[in-house]
Amino acid sequence: MIVGTPRPRLEGRLKVTGAAPYAADVPVPGLAHGWMVTATVSRGRIRELDAAAALALPGVLAVLDHTNSRRLNPDAANYFGPDGSLPLLQDDVVPHAGRPVALVVAETPEQARAGAAALRIGYETEPHDLGFALDHPAARPASTLFGPEADTGDLAAELAASAVVVDEVYRTPEETHSAIEPHAATAWWADGHLHAVDTDQGPYGISRVMATLFEIDRDRVHIRAEHVGGGFGGKTICGAQLILAAMAAEHVGRPVRVALTRRQVFLATGSRPPTEQRVRIGADASGRLRAIHHHAAFALSPLAEYIEWCTEQARTLYAAPAIRTQLTAVPLDMLPPCTMRGPGATPGSFAFESAVDEVAERLGIDPLDLRLRNQPSVSPVSGRPFSTRRLVTCLTEGARRFGWGQRDPRPGVRREGDLLVGTGVACAAFIAGTFPSSASITAEADGTFTVRSGATDIGTGARTALTAVAADALGVTTEAIRLRIGDSDLGMAADAGGSRGTTSHVFAITETAKALREKLPGADLPVTATVDTTPLINWQPDQERNTYSAIFAEVTADPATGEVRVRRLLGMFAVGRVINPLLARGQLTGAMIGGLSMALHEEGVHDPVSGRLVTADLAGYHIAAHADVPAIEADFVADYEPQDTSGVNGLGEIGSCGTAAAIANAVWHATGTRQRTLPISLSRVLSP
Ligand code: MOS
Repeated sequence: MIVGTPRPRLEGRLKVTGAAPYAADVPVPGLAHGWMVTATVSRGRIRELDAAAALALPGVLAVLDHTNSRRLNPDAANYFGPDGSLPLLQDDVVPHAGRPVALVVAETPEQARAGAAALRIGYETEPHDLGFALDHPAARPASTLFGPEADTGDLAAELAASAVVVDEVYRTPEETHSAIEPHAATAWWADGHLHAVDTDQGPYGISRVMATLFEIDRDRVHIRAEHVGGGFGGKTICGAQLILAAMAAEHVGRPVRVALTRRQVFLATGSRPPTEQRVRIGADASGRLRAIHHHAAFALSPLAEYIEWCTEQARTLYAAPAIRTQLTAVPLDMLPPCTMRGPGATPGSFAFESAVDEVAERLGIDPLDLRLRNQPSVSPVSGRPFSTRRLVTCLTEGARRFGWGQRDPRPGVRREGDLLVGTGVACAAFIAGTFPSSASITAEADGTFTVRSGATDIGTGARTALTAVAADALGVTTEAIRLRIGDSDLGMAADAGGSRGTTSHVFAITETAKALREKLPGADLPVTATVDTTPLINWQPDQERNTYSAIFAEVTADPATGEVRVRRLLGMFAVGRVINPLLARGQLTGAMIGGLSMALHEEGVHDPVSGRLVTADLAGYHIAAHADVPAIEADFVADYEPQDTSGVNGLGEIGSCGTAAAIANAVWHATGTRQRTLPISLSRVLSP
């Protein structure tokens, strides 16, 4: 058995030696370079776009804008997500600052950039609105594509009968993924086929969107994403880099590369929307929860529907006779948001698990005890059983390792020198499951196996995990497996998103291995089996399927400077069977660092007059750096997912959920002050 053993990343050497090719550095003969130009106003129209000076510069080949670029199929906008904004350069409308309005194509990137600087663009501006608030006049119910709102029991009666009621508002800002590799694509056309090397989280799905946009058969779209330098959700969508590179390559009849600058990633790719969340929780004096009401609002663009599903925790974590969730969308003149690092659950759990902590505070009950006392035996809203729920073990085992038992409950009293010290806990659930995927495996004459999957590895370790799964399923060592991934030609596959990439691809590969083994006896080699899991997947399981976490944090707060530092972070996780503990731990500690970063540092800020993003670089937008990251530990409780033939669940995002609340709760314990707005910056600590 290879599954379950810690093994290093297969492509690790390629990556650290610089030999792994990324979208912006694949060599292509005859390559031209596109420089994206983005709108500088937050709402309006392009009045004039004068390209004469740019076209006169050396090396400039073309300027694409809404007046001369090819028409794209507007139906691509129906694809769920921020992709509604996709058909680029189609009209003169500017829906948000940072919207791509032109592409300058030249022989070199420097010449293209010089051309972009020489463009003269005039706008007619219209008043913009970025005034996000839960009670904004444009607020409306969010899409219920993920299912109806929870509304069980008599909320008003349970609140009225509660001994304590917490009723507070929590806020999280706009945040940007900040993957290490900026978005880039290299595209060319040959015989009516589009070829591209792109940085994205799912080349198969992207090939479908591109086929729709360009109105060609999907089999004529060939997207490769063999190595991707992180995504965090920001590369799930079909990116401007790819659409513009493909448009430009067609326009100039040469391969074109579009590599976004870091600033352009902030302005034009996607972000997590700001949220404002009112949480009301009522409990009786013994700490039994009676009423839960979570009303969350998020901002979105009128260009595209999107769901920041903040209310998932309220319907999953605790039993209560009355539970109500409400999700509100507020359309504003902003970049269409997209999924980011545990979408919904991460900002949602910050609000919800902070409020739960406040209930414990008001009742004088240990916050760990309060959580343990309210565990449901079945899903509190649907009444369905959980397929596996090892949350209590996460909490108790985490508490044991962290040393929670010795905790002094009083806030604001522990000092070490000038610093205040505190600890906090939070837990989280993240929905799990499988998306349809296919795989194909060939038994070669030399005894090896070629395994093909449209999966991609965005740095998670998927390549290593899938190789191990294939080897076990075929009863051979990993040396006998040649895994090919990261190419839309390798078959239909789920993207590396929604914490479901590896789960989906493991299912497809194990089913295909099974089919191949049935074919093998007496067969002439090579022989190939292909399985598409679409008909095998149960979309409406009669059990709820989630992963769980308990996060423990210890912080120091400096009352003189307001600086909060995290000193210890411990995460215990229930994620089904773990394929590769080394890489899984790396993914979870990475996600916890994302949660730390969210808690203390990350904040997108817009200039109130121009509406433009002020923090559109890594100098203005702070992320946790190495020195911010303390002793950090992630481990697993024994778990097995009965809904999955391999017992696995995805673990891509559960690490970021819960971390911010654990840190905020620890800050309260250190300082005695609740921080209900992220990030917990120095000024917020100094003047709460
Ligand atoms: Mo994940 S934020 O769905 O890539």
